[in-house]
Amino acid sequence: MMEEVVTHRVLGHALAQSDPRPGEPIRVLDVGCGTGDGLALLTESHEGLAPLVAENELDYFGIDVDPDMIDTARSQHTGRRAVFEVADMRTGLPDGDFDVYMSCGVPYSHLPHDEVVEVLSTIMEKIVRTRDSAVIVVDVLGRYSLEWTPHWPQTRWPYNMSFFEDATETIHDQMSFFDRRSLDAALISAAANAGARLAGLTFTDRSIVVGRHTATLAFNQAIPPYRSLLNDLARGHTDVNPADLLLRNPAGHAPAQIQGFFALLTDRWNSIVTQSTRTTNGLTSPQHARLLAKSLLACEQQLQQGLGVGHSLAATAVVGPSTVH
Ligand SMILES: C[S@@+](CC[C@H](N)C(=O)[O-])C[C@H]1O[C@@H](n2cnc3c(N)ncnc32)[C@H](O)[C@@H]1O
Repeated sequence: MMEEVVTHRVLGHALAQSDPRPGEPIRVLDVGCGTGDGLALLTESHEGLAPLVAENELDYFGIDVDPDMIDTARSQHTGRRAVFEVADMRTGLPDGDFDVYMSCGVPYSHLPHDEVVEVLSTIMEKIVRTRDSAVIVVDVLGRYSLEWTPHWPQTRWPYNMSFFEDATETIHDQMSFFDRRSLDAALISAAANAGARLAGLTFTDRSIVVGRHTATLAFNQAIPPYRSLLNDLARGHTDVNPADLLLRNPAGHAPAQIQGFFALLTDRWNSIVTQSTRTTNGLTSPQHARLLAKSLLACEQQLQQGLGVGHSLAATAVVGPSTVH
């Protein structure tokens, strides 16, 4: 309910904007595919949402720089219509012709900002050389997430990742953070380098109050563990204290547009909490708890404007030659 539904929507929008050859499978390159979750996001149902594409209508190609990820991807998806290869997106983009260059799980954030522009330039040059258009989905970490308010002044800093919430193994790496303005600038620079035209540009924030580090509190101890609390609600726990769910305007320094967004979100979020629990003075039943979780997740998903205020920010663009002949 927190992540897949949003990524599903982003990828569905990307597929809908693509222009595959009539009667042929849609060709998708998953950049930084990890263990192949992107394949599952495309071909499996999530939270009652239908699969985005039937497996026999998809040519999926996943690349990742980490050979262990590719080994796991191959073993997890044995027998499926999918190719997984070890490749560095900076130097080893495959030659094939793709309708969609997708990403999920913030692979571009591993790169410094200038390298993101270089990779996007290479992808766009290829599109411009070979076809009328293709769709790019660029998934990065959001700069202004509640999860790391103290880091808001920086755009690249040491981040630790655990791929599963209960994992003891974490990876420490410098990661790049983007807001809408910097991701937009990266796409525009890449398009200028490649002689490409960008159309249908959209930005989507994912996991604004419920980013995974609102459970770990690894980078900001000054907030309640919202993700854990929402998970408790979604499991029907009635012992969640409504006061703990209330949002406060984040203390970090951010541009006026970001502050305005958080003021609006805080207002709406808190009124949902208070209206749901005021008369009953708390959660009365598992159903009540689950309904509140649903309303709060819907609130952040409906209010998002793609500003870089969530755990991740996804940009989707249709790329074509700057002059179509
Ligand atoms: C958090 S994982 C996301 C994996 C997958 N897309 C998912 O959603 O589960 C980010 C992935 O980016 C990969 N990555 C980092 N730098 C890369 C590069 N230069 N080229 C290709 N993959 C890269 C990492 O190895 C890692 O598997």
